[in-house]
Amino acid sequence: MVADPLRPTSEPWPGMEAVRRLIAQARSIFVLTGAGISAESGVPTFRDAMTGLWERFNPEELASEEAYRRQPELVWEWYLHRRALVAAAHPNPAHHALAALAAQKHVTLVTQNVDGLHQRAGSQHVIELHGNLFANKWLDGCGRCDEASALPGMPPRCHLCGALMRPGVVWFGEDLPRVARFRAEHAAQTSDLCLVVGTSGLVYPAAALPGLAKEHGAPVIVINPLPSALDQTADLVVPAAAGALLPLLWPQPGMEPD
Ligand code: OAD
Repeated sequence: MVADPLRPTSEPWPGMEAVRRLIAQARSIFVLTGAGISAESGVPTFRDAMTGLWERFNPEELASEEAYRRQPELVWEWYLHRRALVAAAHPNPAHHALAALAAQKHVTLVTQNVDGLHQRAGSQHVIELHGNLFANKWLDGCGRCDEASALPGMPPRCHLCGALMRPGVVWFGEDLPRVARFRAEHAAQTSDLCLVVGTSGLVYPAAALPGLAKEHGAPVIVINPLPSALDQTADLVVPAAAGALLPLLWPQPGMEPD
C-alpha cells in the first residue's frame, strides 16, 4: 500500500498517542488551564512582556491591593485596557475542544484565567480560581455601596462612603475564593486523569492542584510548548501549543474520527 503523502505517518508531537489513549480511557478528567490557553486568542500571558503603553510595567506590580491604593487611576486604566483586549478576542480551538470534551466525559474545568473565554466557547460550570476580569466589587465597602458616576479616567466610587470600585479578580497576596478552591481540590482528588494546559505552574495554590491529583492516583499530563514548573509532577509532557494539539486528542463535533 502506498502511503498518503498528505497524512503524517508519525505523531506530530511525541507522547500524543499516549495522551489520546489516557483521555479515551478516563471517566472523569480534571483540567487546569492557565494564560497559555488564551495565547492563541491574542491575550498576552503573564510572563509575556506587555506591549504598547504598558510596556514598562510588570503585571505583578499592578495586580495588587497595595498598587491599587497607591495608584488607583493607573491600575483601573490597566484593567480597562485588559477588558477591551479580551472583549475583542475570541475563543480559540483549544477552548472549543475543552467545551466539546465535556459532552463526552465528566470534566471539571478549573482555570486561573479571568478572561471568560472558556465560557464563551460553551464550557459550563467553569471554576474560576482567580475571579473574572469583567466583575466588579468594592474595596472597603460600607455594605450599602452604590455606584456614583466616575470622573473620566478615575475608578468609580460609592456615593455613600467613597469606597473605590475594584475589579473582581484575585490580586497577589489575596486568598482564592473559598468555594472555588474547595471544588477544585475536591475534583483534583476524585478525578482519574489530570490535564494541565498552558500554565507556568509558578503561582500557588493553583499550581499545587496537579500534585494533589497525582497523590490521589491520577496520571498528570502537561501541555505547554515550553518547559514549566509542573513538568516534574507530570507523567507525560507534550511540548505543543494548546490550540494546535487539543482538537486532535478527542473527537470534535462535526469532524470524522480518524
Ligand atoms: P503564565 O503567563 O505564568 O504562563 C503561561 C504559560 O503558557 C507559559 O508556561 C507558556 O509557556 C505557556 N504557553 C504559551 N503559549 C501557549 C500555547 N499556545 N499553548 C499552551 N501553553 C502556552 O500564566 P499562568 O500560569 O496562567 O494570577 O499564570 C498563573 C497566574 O499568575 C495567573 O492566573 C495570574 C498570574 O500572575 C493572578 O492574577 C492571581
